[in-house]
Amino acid sequence: MAFPPSFIDELVARNPIEEVVSQYVSLTRRGSNQFGLCPFHGEKTASFSVAADKGIFYCFGCHKGGGVINFIMEIENLSYPDAVQYLAKRVGMDVPEDEQYQSRYKKQERLWALCAEAARFFHATLYSPAGAEGLAYARNRGLGQSTLTRFGVGFAPNGWTGLLDAMKKKNYTEEELLEAGLALRHKEKGTVYDRFRNRLMFPIIDVRGHVIGFGGRVMDDSTPKYLNSPETIIFNKRKNLFAMNLAKKSKAGRIILVEGYMDAIALHQYGFDCAVASLGTALTEEQVNLLSKYTEEIVLIYDGDEAGQNATRRAMPMLEKSGLKMRILRIQGAKDPDEFLKKYGADRFKLLMDGAENQMEYQLQTLARKFDLQDDEQKVSFLQAAAELLASVNSAVQQEVYGIRAAQAAGISWDAMKLEINKALKRRVRREKKREEKIITNPAEVYRTGKRAVRYDNVSSARAEEGLLGLICREPALLDQVDLEPSAFSSPLLGRCFALLRERHRAGLRVDLSCLEGFTPEETAHLAGVLQGQVDPVSEDALNDYIARIRQAHQSSKTTVPADLMDLLGTMKNKQNYNT
Ligand code: UTP
Ligand code: MN
Repeated sequence: MAFPPSFIDELVARNPIEEVVSQYVSLTRRGSNQFGLCPFHGEKTASFSVAADKGIFYCFGCHKGGGVINFIMEIENLSYPDAVQYLAKRVGMDVPEDEQYQSRYKKQERLWALCAEAARFFHATLYSPAGAEGLAYARNRGLGQSTLTRFGVGFAPNGWTGLLDAMKKKNYTEEELLEAGLALRHKEKGTVYDRFRNRLMFPIIDVRGHVIGFGGRVMDDSTPKYLNSPETIIFNKRKNLFAMNLAKKSKAGRIILVEGYMDAIALHQYGFDCAVASLGTALTEEQVNLLSKYTEEIVLIYDGDEAGQNATRRAMPMLEKSGLKMRILRIQGAKDPDEFLKKYGADRFKLLMDGAENQMEYQLQTLARKFDLQDDEQKVSFLQAAAELLASVNSAVQQEVYGIRAAQAAGISWDAMKLEINKALKRRVRREKKREEKIITNPAEVYRTGKRAVRYDNVSSARAEEGLLGLICREPALLDQVDLEPSAFSSPLLGRCFALLRERHRAGLRVDLSCLEGFTPEETAHLAGVLQGQVDPVSEDALNDYIARIRQAHQSSKTTVPADLMDLLGTMKNKQNYNT
């Protein structure tokens, strides 16, 4: 999506990154940068930084980074053009009219409106004679009046064109109904008909309140039990969670994650207004991202059957990586939360939830199973491993509670266990300090510890290239003195970045990372990390030194290879340099 560069430039200039970020994160100044708690992963010490002079943010913990547009994309879950639109609205700028984007955004707005209209139609139908069977089914499933209203539950009539006809009257076209996933076209006849028929309808609403799709349940045992809207330009199953629009307002301080629509709805009805459900797929990273914007604690409640257990096992590492506090509840005596609530009531459920195993318990149990605690040697290994685990807990009370349990399991005293934990704690502090020092002084390390490794082929030259980019971002005028070509860069990524910045400088545009087009999110984050690590004062001596080092590395890479092989090797080397 190409916006005119001058427009993006003005947009970025009028949305200073520190100002935009401050709306989400409280920042404190430390040196030339500002730091705060990262909004993208749970953390207790601030490793999220904003460098106003470079126009970038970067988190030393989760390695997210980029310019102000990237920040909005990430935190508001928006595509690039939507983030641009969002920032434009924020400062009252008009997005250029004739853009392809404009039509896409208008289309989205049409489909949001259509889906909202469809939800109203289904809801009204539920209370009409055509919906009698649906209403009876809903009541039979225990859904109360206010629940039906709060979730906008509806009914799709048992015809072929009920919705279609109603929406046409509201001036929506067949084409639009197809695009919203509400209608289908008959393969042979070419006629258009309703996708959802004779089903109880659950609107799926995103966090900004747009109806984006539906799940429709049959009222008997036929299959598929649920029919869901297909992926459309407004409905992305990976990025949304059912009932998140309600749960985000909850004061519960946690979010309960369940498998089924009906489970989430039942939980809300029984007073647990922080329940959400995934959309019929395994939990995705995008959904975890979304969750971490609204809470620090997840209670994971999957069904007791094997599929549910597998889903739990798959969701756990993902939640763990996000830094969210997590507890796991095993439903017993019922097949799912919905059934449990009906059988035993809210109080029993609350008890169950308060006693839910937390991650630590679960991990300690898993760990204990790996060792033969009758064997002395293995017992020692278990204690050491358990102490490592416990040292990662921030609360002393928790450490003691679980430490005592682990000690008991291994048949030793709490004092002995405490000693082990203290040793592990000291090791941990040392390790973290080292790691932090390394990251701050040596940004290249970040990428090796990050999720996606970007390796440098020639580390010494790459360091000079990083330094050079850091200088020109802060002092673009220096670019006039750099007589290097991008091809002289040992790192193709840094070379591409250099080429872009030089081009922007020549065109009179901003020279910083806030307008990185044509780079992947990983590349953008990588570059943000590189620049965030550049803290040396701007000086021409440094610049000349970097240039000399880059040139020298480039020369020697040339001279060691016969000229006729250069091209071939050059391309091979490019392929090997990166594994992003
Ligand atoms: P469940 O079968 O556990 O659904 O599937 P449920 O919500 O408990 O439904 P009831 O109580 O039988 O009415 C869990 C989720 O998997 C998705 C839906 O999102 C459902 O809520 N699913 C299930 C489908 O998308 N299609 C299906 O055919 C079945
Ligand atoms: Mn169920």
